[in-house]
Amino acid sequence: MSMKEKILEILEENKGKSISGSFIAQKLGITRSAVWKTVKTLKEEGYIISAVTNKGYCLAPGSDILSEQSIKPLLKTHAFGKKMDVFKSIDSTNNFAKSLAQIGGEHGTAIIAESQTKGRGRLNRNFYSPGGGVYMSIILRPELSMEDAQLITSCAAAAVARAIQNITGLDAKIKWVNDIFIGGKKVCGILTEAGMNFETGKLDYAVVGIGINVNTKHFSGELEKIATSLFAETGKTVLRCNLIAEILNVFEQYFEKMHTREFMSEYISRSNVIGREVTVTAPGVSYSAVVVGIDQNARLLVKTQDGEEHILNSGEISVRF
Ligand code: BTN
Repeated sequence: MSMKEKILEILEENKGKSISGSFIAQKLGITRSAVWKTVKTLKEEGYIISAVTNKGYCLAPGSDILSEQSIKPLLKTHAFGKKMDVFKSIDSTNNFAKSLAQIGGEHGTAIIAESQTKGRGRLNRNFYSPGGGVYMSIILRPELSMEDAQLITSCAAAAVARAIQNITGLDAKIKWVNDIFIGGKKVCGILTEAGMNFETGKLDYAVVGIGINVNTKHFSGELEKIATSLFAETGKTVLRCNLIAEILNVFEQYFEKMHTREFMSEYISRSNVIGREVTVTAPGVSYSAVVVGIDQNARLLVKTQDGEEHILNSGEISVRF
């Protein structure tokens, strides 16, 4: 850890409280002037740190620059987020996480960015990733059957919805299979990508990418009609480090018991499509149907007007909210 990171760690641990320069200097075995110089660098990077004579340095309680030092003290996990890389900007956290997984990146490693230049969504779509959001990919190395591995996205969706609700109080809904909605608009998308080990025929790794519109103030063009942010829904800035830590805390708990399907009751109760008429789009077909339920393997059960029932593993559905 660099000296700057060590000082940031102390300030983050004491966020909102003053901590004297001489205490920091003594703890790290450096001079008070070295502390002062480093705090100056942190301020130049955007950290809001006040310096009060005879009291010391205080990192503003609302400081929300993402860093390992701001997130790690909030974790209650064994593996999730124990290793993390945090970027100001990156092409795509999923791309980075996949490359890392291919050279042995550990289970639970989180790749986090403040913005993405080439954020990717499902079906090769772009994912709009401006500053103020949360863009995070988690490497998983699960010992799972292929059947259970297909539940990773739904498990992540239930965990993210629960974490959003815990942090903001908002009623987060899940639009099958992997979108989180609030009040009829999308606030989060999840993209899971997997690597196979062809020798064992088993899953080598999965990367779960989570993109949340957190403090986005405006969406332009078409996005304005279909997307929302946690800021837009609460009228308040949401501290992203708290949200990221809560997602890692809840997701690890759900993931460790994923085989029991316990998370499915939450997934189903948060569904905003059960009982609704939807348009199902699968390769080469598109038809209207009513969603009659979601089974314990997160498959969507639909019934067409002719009374035909279909069980969908994947695909797209559209609903008019
Ligand atoms: C979707 O809505 O279709 C899924 C969007 C997934 C976006 C996240 S942001 C973090 C991670 N990195 C990416 O490039 N994509 C995922």
